[in-house]
Amino acid sequence: MTVTSVAQAAYVIAGLLFVLSLAGLSAQESARRGTVLGMLGMGLAIAATIALALDRSQRPWPVTAGLILLVLVVGAAVGSWRARRVEMTQMPELIALLHSFVGLSAVLVGYGSFLAEPVGAAAAGGDTVHRVEVFLGVLIGAVTFTGSVVAFGKLSGRLPSAPLTLPGRHALNLLALVASAGLLAWFVTADDVGAAVLPLVLMTLVALALGWHLVAAIGGGDMPVVVSMLNSYSGWAAAAAGFTLGNDLLIITGALVGASGAILSYLMCQAMNRSFWSVVLGGFGAGATGGPGGGTQEAGEVRETSPDEVAGLLTAARSVVVVPGYGMAVAKAQHPVADLAERLRARGVTVRFGVHPVAGRLPGHMNVLLAEARVPYDLVLEMDEVNPDLPGTDVVLVIGANDTVNPAAQDDPSSPIAGMPVIEAWKARDVVVFKRSLATGYAGVQNPLFFRENTRMLFGDAREQVDKIVQAL
Ligand code: TAP
Repeated sequence: MTVTSVAQAAYVIAGLLFVLSLAGLSAQESARRGTVLGMLGMGLAIAATIALALDRSQRPWPVTAGLILLVLVVGAAVGSWRARRVEMTQMPELIALLHSFVGLSAVLVGYGSFLAEPVGAAAAGGDTVHRVEVFLGVLIGAVTFTGSVVAFGKLSGRLPSAPLTLPGRHALNLLALVASAGLLAWFVTADDVGAAVLPLVLMTLVALALGWHLVAAIGGGDMPVVVSMLNSYSGWAAAAAGFTLGNDLLIITGALVGASGAILSYLMCQAMNRSFWSVVLGGFGAGATGGPGGGTQEAGEVRETSPDEVAGLLTAARSVVVVPGYGMAVAKAQHPVADLAERLRARGVTVRFGVHPVAGRLPGHMNVLLAEARVPYDLVLEMDEVNPDLPGTDVVLVIGANDTVNPAAQDDPSSPIAGMPVIEAWKARDVVVFKRSLATGYAGVQNPLFFRENTRMLFGDAREQVDKIVQAL
């Protein structure tokens, strides 16, 4: 039994563990098991890869082992330091940044593999296949790299979230693809490594610009789809790197990530009533005014309320729906909110939670927070389940949600979020909105809900206000 055959067997087992991990992650109850299986698979994959590297090493093995150990220690130290410090609300930024690393490594693997090509080898038939693999790996990797950097910038507020709408932007994207196809032809037919470098470098520059432009053209409210789309791209970039390296596990893992990211993007597009292809092609959210107050400029009288008044409203209510949003995550209000719900339930009030598919800043953000606060799963309803019940609901508590409860999405065709399904909070008898000001949400759109007859605003930090209501109760 050689090291290679043992490593190949370990790769197959790791691949299976990844599939089981994904299956586990599909339901909240089994998610923990799914994560553990994924960690086991990754541990096995790393061990097998190290064993292979040591076996094939052309240097004395202690040198190779030392180099691997060095990068592992540095990577693990930086990774665990960052992961420990990151706030839940910053997770999407971190994920976007990690995707950029996958993209960058696919580019570097492509270049490394290309430069290791024996000089004058292009004439051999097999090399064309290798060159195509290198080219596609670098192309997808470079698009993923700059796209993810822009997504990181937009999500962390370092870049404006409004869409960049260059004139003729679809034509520009098409031009980049056509130019890449031409460069591919030049690249595979170039005689030797020296002559093939130029088309590869030119394509890399084109792909870097394309990735930048694709994501820069996407507007604020649609960023969730972009993050899952980049997740998918990073998977395909890893799979392409797997082909260039001849590593089966990287191909399997990359394809799993690529396919599941694409499915997630598709589902999120459906949830947000957006066309999948307009996101893939970039530049969606165009025509949107983007900046604060874009779209509906409804203003009017705002009715302010107090924690005592809300406590009175809740005591008299028979049914209450809580709609959590990004502000609940910022205020870390999930525990007091769960406590409030529990107290109301103890008094015989029917309490449910209505969760919008893109509430917060990452898929399932609110579900994770509510699960952490031990809110029973059966009280947590999805948007489609809760909307039909809202006209018969006494009180809706909107806790730090904004875009996801904006009636302009239904009423104002010129709004940047027009067509996005929303939680119809305004249909309840009374609505209480918890936020600190009249500021807009992530999409930068004014919210007419704040000015409706049946809405009361409870200004201040959501956690402090909920605590006060609990005390008043
Ligand atoms: P948002 O529309 O982002 O609004 C959150 C609101 O919370 C803000 O208007 C803010 O108002 C308030 N807030 C912030 N800190 C608060 C605090 N300490 N106490 C009370 N309120 C606070 O939230 P949403 O309804 O959850 O919508 C999510 C948005 O993010 C959507 O546009 C979605 O497309 C986008 N997005 C989602 C994802 C995913 S995957 N879920 C990823 C990226 C982007 P004040 O400043 O006035 O307090």
